[in-house]
Amino acid sequence: MTGLVVGSSNAKVGIVEAIEVLRQGGSALDAVVAGIALVEANPEDHSVGYAGLPNLLGEVELDASIMSGSNLAAGAVGALQGYQDAIALARRVMEELPHVFVVGAGANRLAAELGFPPTDLLTPEAERIWRSRLDADGATSPGQRAFTARVRDLVRRVSSDPELPKAAPEPHGTVNVIARDRHGDLACGVSTSGWAWKYPGRLGDSPIIGAGNYADNRWGAAACTGRGEMAQRCCTAHSVVTFMRFGMGLEEALRTAMADLTAIDDPYASEINIVAMDKDGNHAGASTSKGKTYVVMREDMETYEEPRRLLVPFSNG
Ligand code: GLY
Repeated sequence: MTGLVVGSSNAKVGIVEAIEVLRQGGSALDAVVAGIALVEANPEDHSVGYAGLPNLLGEVELDASIMSGSNLAAGAVGALQGYQDAIALARRVMEELPHVFVVGAGANRLAAELGFPPTDLLTPEAERIWRSRLDADGATSPGQRAFTARVRDLVRRVSSDPELPKAAPEPHGTVNVIARDRHGDLACGVSTSGWAWKYPGRLGDSPIIGAGNYADNRWGAAACTGRGEMAQRCCTAHSVVTFMRFGMGLEEALRTAMADLTAIDDPYASEINIVAMDKDGNHAGASTSKGKTYVVMREDMETYEEPRRLLVPFSNG
């Protein structure tokens, strides 16, 4: 079977490496970790790993999960501080601990015990961006404006810096990578620094198996980016796979899961995206925002393609 990798658009920095792992006979799990590790190391990406945007207190907290579709094994870490390699650590949780999910001080401790290299994750650029939203109004949707207002309120209580610049990017990102190896095994990985300016200790969907990540060789795999609190409430990644299990095609499964998401009454609602692959290697993405893409590459391709995602907007625009 031809190896195949699908990911969120920011996975383009790692997708060629992930495919190379499959070409060398590596497993889908190996490919997911190799692909995401390059995104976690990318200083240009402020939504994942090193240079990720920090929480309310200016601390970078990383979340990641990995799932094996062949046996439903899974591992996850949350609110990891001081270590960049969140996806590799999630895999070690899956393979070496009798647990699925380790967070906070326990995750930091595990990284140290396993000899992961400590890293100062907060770059000067990420810190500049973090400061910029503390008193700016760069938000573009009602949900983001509500989130920003709430964050601003919280931040005023913890920050006394009067020199706050006036521009900020979207507060969320995350990387998804789904791989199918030559044996037909699926693996799905997700890694993120979570919502910037989040309340310390907040976990989104990314490290939660079933919410932001799910893989089952029998039906397919799915992963999410965007406002994790929505995917948590709808168990979105598991829903997509379950919809396929009960007979929906990939596109219908995605549209149904997106309809569930956009029906939520969420005062902080903002962009939410899914990327998915079925058991036969068909792939698709969906987003509430126009013009969004995902990346895909097969072993027999020289580089990746970047198809459009299905657009499923919020009904209120
Ligand atoms: N989807 C990433 C997060 O909400 O943290």
